[in-house]
Amino acid sequence: MTYLDEKNTRTALKNYGVNFLFLEETDSTNEHLKRVLSTSEFSDPIALVAERQMKGKGTKGRQWADDPENCLKFSMLVEYKGMEKYLPRLSPLLALNLAEIFQNLDPSVRIKWPNDLIKDFGKLSGILIEAVRKDEKLFLIFGIGINLFNSSELNREVNRKISYLFEEKKQEVLRRSEVVEKLVISVLKTISSCVEKDDIVFCERWKKLDFFYDKIISLQSPTEQLTGIEKGITPSGELKLLTDGKIKEISNGELSIVL
Ligand code: BTN
Repeated sequence: MTYLDEKNTRTALKNYGVNFLFLEETDSTNEHLKRVLSTSEFSDPIALVAERQMKGKGTKGRQWADDPENCLKFSMLVEYKGMEKYLPRLSPLLALNLAEIFQNLDPSVRIKWPNDLIKDFGKLSGILIEAVRKDEKLFLIFGIGINLFNSSELNREVNRKISYLFEEKKQEVLRRSEVVEKLVISVLKTISSCVEKDDIVFCERWKKLDFFYDKIISLQSPTEQLTGIEKGITPSGELKLLTDGKIKEISNGELSIVL
């Protein structure tokens, strides 16, 4: 028995022109799609779900822990035809698109810069986007991990608070394929909305779901700590921090918010 209804998921994703791959086990769904990309025969967009991920990758070289019964591991390979100047804002934009969709299931879902979904102070979902060039084309791999149900295994393994999307396991199989469909919709929306005219709209939408907006936050890197008032993000995805009466713009990858 598998946790995801493979057939239903494949049929649903066909409606969006997305091919579907399902694996019982892999090292990392992002790495698997890189291997698919290195073959000559593939047809993107491709969405992949693996029931078990043995070497899940997180941001900043960290590991992403798994519990097959309770966590969903998803990656999607898409050719990027937009302008490269919009690449830095893709991951906050994806987090925002996902949070807007999941808000319908749970209104307490919020975003934490640059690309985490949080709920009740715990991490609900993480995003890792990787870019690969092939034959003069740029491909993106959107990796998303979501905690669907409470997992004592994960709570033991991970050294911070974790949240999950659903309280009960009712209709679990149906729910997983619906969640996969929502992930695909969010990735497609992210890819198609990287245009200049969306700049202001993007920042305003972000502000509405930003858990830390107007709150005092601390940002930490291995070498520095910054404290200030969070003021949302810039159109290119940098965090705005009010400190010493000035707005400092912080790029993704420089520092992370301390919860
Ligand atoms: C983070 O550290 O917040 C990002 C975590 C991203 C995890 C997902 S799970 C599916 C995909 N495959 C991976 O190896 N990582 C991403």
